[in-house]
Amino acid sequence: TGVVTYDPGFMNTAACQSAITYIDGDVGILRYRGYPIEQLAEKSNYLEVSYLLGRGELPTRSALNAFETRVLRHTHLHEDFRRLISSFPRNAHPMAIIASAVSALPGFYPEVFDVKNEEVEELATVLMLGKLPTIVAYVLRHARGQRMPDAEPENGYVADFLRMALHEVRGPEFGPEVVAAMDKLLVLHADHEQNCSASVVRNVGSAHANLFLSVAAGINALSGPLHGGANEAVLSMLEDVRDNHGGDVATFVNQVKDRKSGARLMGFGHRVYKNYDPRAAIVKQAADSVLEALGKRDELLDIAMELEEVALHDDYFVSRKLYPNVDFYTGLIYRAMGFPTSMFTPLFALGRMPGWIAQWREMMNDPSTKIARPRQVYTGPGERDYVDVADR
Ligand code: CMC
Repeated sequence: TGVVTYDPGFMNTAACQSAITYIDGDVGILRYRGYPIEQLAEKSNYLEVSYLLGRGELPTRSALNAFETRVLRHTHLHEDFRRLISSFPRNAHPMAIIASAVSALPGFYPEVFDVKNEEVEELATVLMLGKLPTIVAYVLRHARGQRMPDAEPENGYVADFLRMALHEVRGPEFGPEVVAAMDKLLVLHADHEQNCSASVVRNVGSAHANLFLSVAAGINALSGPLHGGANEAVLSMLEDVRDNHGGDVATFVNQVKDRKSGARLMGFGHRVYKNYDPRAAIVKQAADSVLEALGKRDELLDIAMELEEVALHDDYFVSRKLYPNVDFYTGLIYRAMGFPTSMFTPLFALGRMPGWIAQWREMMNDPSTKIARPRQVYTGPGERDYVDVADR
């Protein structure tokens, strides 16, 4: 009832109140529960941030240990589940398999259908966080036709994920610096307030769909190239500059500027950040040190840095407030670690899971939540009489 306003893409409509993540896009500020992303990226880790996002406060040491133990207890995947992953074609898109696998989880844990139950929410949270890295790792191994190694939770969450995913490239390659870099990237992706996938998770959950089925919808949304798929596109662009422009960054930038080719500078620009994306600044530093630790100094990193340098001093990009976003440097790190480009978006999903869970739980426990049911502006015909098929 009342006046319905039309706001395509929800550019100006707040769909919820939230105490989880704060962004000031004009200044370039991102905070989880009040803590600056820079401090969390440097000092915290993925499981601690998962706890913080969900509960609102940093855990004490014993609460953190208990939470980690609970999550790590659930990293094993049932044999039936491995068969589910193996039943897909080898070249199936990883995001399709991951979304299907997460949708299948309530089939194995029917208790999660009991929503609005604190204990069940807690169980669903640790189950989801526990299962996802193993699912993502097995999807990669299936694509490569490799055996799926059992989880070894005693290695720790991130280290064991890297081991399961990239079993053959272990050894010195996966020293503590590389594990720490992966952990940092997951922290940087952990939440970003009402982005497309998080708002989808809330919408689905507002019908009291369970946590697993709600976050599966988020995974589906993230698969879109306008959302989680950009990290892949950056890498293809850097390769294109190397292979088809002889590494000549200025010519490529001019092509983007004259707009005839329709090419954009991928990994640049953001709906909310009209300043340097604070996540991109952290990833850029990490890229340098990880590539060094892996002994994989990548010429694509030089191209990326040069592209950034040129763009940041070019009036086209400056006047439109286009700065590097989180996707600009992440792909280079993933690639150096041994992940194929098709796994970049699944890595984003793994990172974003704590945010989806926190958003779902906040929505479920907010007494002001109503089922999501947008209005519309009807543009179809007015009333008219049915015409018999013989008379049309
Ligand atoms: N390269 C060249 N020009 C650009 C770019 C770019 N990357 N991004 C925006 N512009 C121009 C655009 O042509 C427009 O110019 P004009 O006003 O003269 O027509 C102006 O800047 C505003 O662009 P917009 O498309 O209206 O901005 P938006 O807020 O709707 O789009 C965006 C944001 C992220 C979709 C866009 O900047 C883009 O396509 N970037 C490249 C893809 C990318 O890196 N996406 C990752 C986003 S961050 C992670 C995530 O959300 O998953």
